[in-house]
Amino acid sequence: MAVQINPSILSADFARLAEEAKAVQGADWLHVDVMDNHFVPNLTLGVPVVESLARATDTPLDCHLMIEDPDRWAPQYVEAGASSVTFHVEAAAAPVRLAREIRAKGARASMALKPATPIEPYEDLLPELDMLLIMTVEPGFGGQAFLDIMLPKIRRTRELIGKHGLQLWLQVDGGVSASTIERCADAGADVFVAGSAVYGAQDPAEAVRALRSQAAA
Ligand code: DX5
Ligand code: ZN
Repeated sequence: MAVQINPSILSADFARLAEEAKAVQGADWLHVDVMDNHFVPNLTLGVPVVESLARATDTPLDCHLMIEDPDRWAPQYVEAGASSVTFHVEAAAAPVRLAREIRAKGARASMALKPATPIEPYEDLLPELDMLLIMTVEPGFGGQAFLDIMLPKIRRTRELIGKHGLQLWLQVDGGVSASTIERCADAGADVFVAGSAVYGAQDPAEAVRALRSQAAA
């Protein structure tokens, strides 16, 4: 399992997004949090910003859609230049159809679970996905405390992925930092989103390197 570190630009300076993207060179993906003030009580950015960001950086974009009606919007984020698009299963009307459409348009398809959403009902959907995102905070804001109670879900999900012999990546998002990343890796996560732990550091690129070596240890 290769470790991947995805800095979240939610904790970056939105007036300097191109520079902030360059400040984390060496990161595997740039995590872009799209919020619509309906699915979550916060509002961030949309398709035009993703289009500009895709032109401004060589780092592939991992778009996390915290929005209603992802069935309508997710394909547009692929067209805007995202290489991976994550929709929330709680918001999707037809998650299988949506995952297939994202893949057909040429991006990696990913599905997210809020903390109270179990994985078990979705076991049969796993082959349709390239990544599963387990939220380790309630979605909506950066800088929240990591929810330890999600560790058993990460473990069970890793077991299900193994049981089906699948290659999909297991991402964690929320409160991932130097003090929590080892527990996540130990439970079976291999893709780590970090917002405040990267952009709140003196040297964001160094924070990415440090998180990577901790997760791989
Ligand atoms: C929260 C977002 C996260 C956020 C994580 O809903 O999905 O991606 O940026 O921020 P930290 O790492 O500070 O918890
Ligand atoms: Zn996110």
